[in-house]
Amino acid sequence: MSRWEEPRVVHRFAELHALPADVRVDPAAHAARWLVDGTIRGVPHAASAPVVSRVALRDGDTPSAPLLGHEAMLGADDAREALAAAGRAWADGEGAWPAAYAADRARAVGAFADAVAARADDIATLLMWEIGKPRPAARDEVTRSVDYIRNTMHEFARLRAEDHALQTGTAGGRTHHAYTERRPLGKVLCVAPFNYPVNEFLTTIVPALLMGNVVIAKTPRFGVLANGLLLEAFRDCFPPGVVAVLPGDGRISIPALMGASRTDVHGHPAAEIDVLAFIGSEGAANAILKSHAVPITLHKVLGLGAKNVAAVLPGADLDAASAALVKGALGFNGQRCTAEKLVFVHRSIADDLVRRLATRVDALKVGMPWDDGVAITPLPEPDKLASMRALLDDALARGARVVNRDGGRGSFSLMHPAVVYPVADGMRLYHEEQFGPLLAVAVFDDADEVLAWQRRSPYGQQAAVWGPPETAGPLARALVRFVARVNVNDVCQRGPDSFGFTATDKSGFGTLSLREALLSFSRPVLVQSPSAATLETIAPRHKAPGPT
Ligand code: G3H
Repeated sequence: MSRWEEPRVVHRFAELHALPADVRVDPAAHAARWLVDGTIRGVPHAASAPVVSRVALRDGDTPSAPLLGHEAMLGADDAREALAAAGRAWADGEGAWPAAYAADRARAVGAFADAVAARADDIATLLMWEIGKPRPAARDEVTRSVDYIRNTMHEFARLRAEDHALQTGTAGGRTHHAYTERRPLGKVLCVAPFNYPVNEFLTTIVPALLMGNVVIAKTPRFGVLANGLLLEAFRDCFPPGVVAVLPGDGRISIPALMGASRTDVHGHPAAEIDVLAFIGSEGAANAILKSHAVPITLHKVLGLGAKNVAAVLPGADLDAASAALVKGALGFNGQRCTAEKLVFVHRSIADDLVRRLATRVDALKVGMPWDDGVAITPLPEPDKLASMRALLDDALARGARVVNRDGGRGSFSLMHPAVVYPVADGMRLYHEEQFGPLLAVAVFDDADEVLAWQRRSPYGQQAAVWGPPETAGPLARALVRFVARVNVNDVCQRGPDSFGFTATDKSGFGTLSLREALLSFSRPVLVQSPSAATLETIAPRHKAPGPT
């Protein structure tokens, strides 16, 4: 047994008879299904795989992974069938959906939001089982997604109101008049991650649909059953072919989609997928991008890996900072791309901060997703404990310590979070994204050391600075060179959703926010004339509610 094994933690798992009635799941109700061409289809048993939970049930000292349902393991031919249906729905931008009135598309999306809201509790229950998300966070993931959809609809209405407004410019002494409108891009492949399998699924699919695109959505590795509860809503709210939902192994379906091409009217190869919206690891993103048939034509929105730092300066409110950092680093067991993955603390306050962090981490409740007040829950990836322990062993061998009680100890899929200190150059934890329950703390003497770390980092999502404005300000201003968002006396985070969610370097490309996602899934077209009167006549706003 390894030094980290802690069989007693298994007693935190539920026993079947002690399961609350409202979280029981009937595997027979979650058969393997997918959505293609407006039809929800089952698959033969041989083409399905069991979906088992890492939120184990316990019989004495033995945990066992309960069966939740089945996943359709689609093949390349299934992916190509979805692509053909999407092609018919798109019809070179002249299909019923891309050519529909904007107001009709908005109505369909509104009905979809209502349908998702109606299933919120069932979806949240599956999120608890499939990814171990605590009940309040699981519910929040669904309600936040519904809010996101409705708020995106408001932004969509505002954006449409801006379309066709006349602008003027001068060149060579002549006055030019023009208006712009935004057009959809085509067939969008959306791939979401397992940590927000519903929210990050919908925050790309919905803006893409509103703008008139058609979507093929690949479900994440975990969360397939939660997304399965959306199939009826997709089928009922959108025309056939406008949305396909593909479960199964992305290593089979995604290359089949990305690599697909046809010959255009000029005899040139044209890719079938026009847009990739991918949230996941940079390694997977790279492989997917390389498989595209005509890379130069691909639009992309990418949310990738991150190693966000928080720098805690002398004079910072350590009570507030320690509370926030524990939440920021260990919320959902550290499985958030925006999590603080490395805390830099000034040497003069390091002992104080580390003591506070350890005390707060020891107070976190470890248990089942439905337990009241639970913070640390089972990890869905079967190899997660091993990978966390490899990082820990490496750090400990190079001089770091675990400074909280039971940090790193656990069994099966439950692990006590570890505060690791001092993490330093040469340790894997100093550079690598852990995406798990390890709170890594490094010491600095001069703020330039934080900047030097950031300069070397391949990542560029967010950073946080804690301290009084006189010292936090200069560091925050320097950090903007390396990341896409600096949080001052607050944790790294995606929200509010009206703010742009973006990143630089290997952490991402493009922006997702209520408004900018709509821009990301569309292109501007300019119509120009020397005559304002002519443009006034032809601008579609004068033909309301004409197709847009
Ligand atoms: O994992 C990446 C998520 O988009 C982070 O969102 O900061 O709201 O947890 P969050």
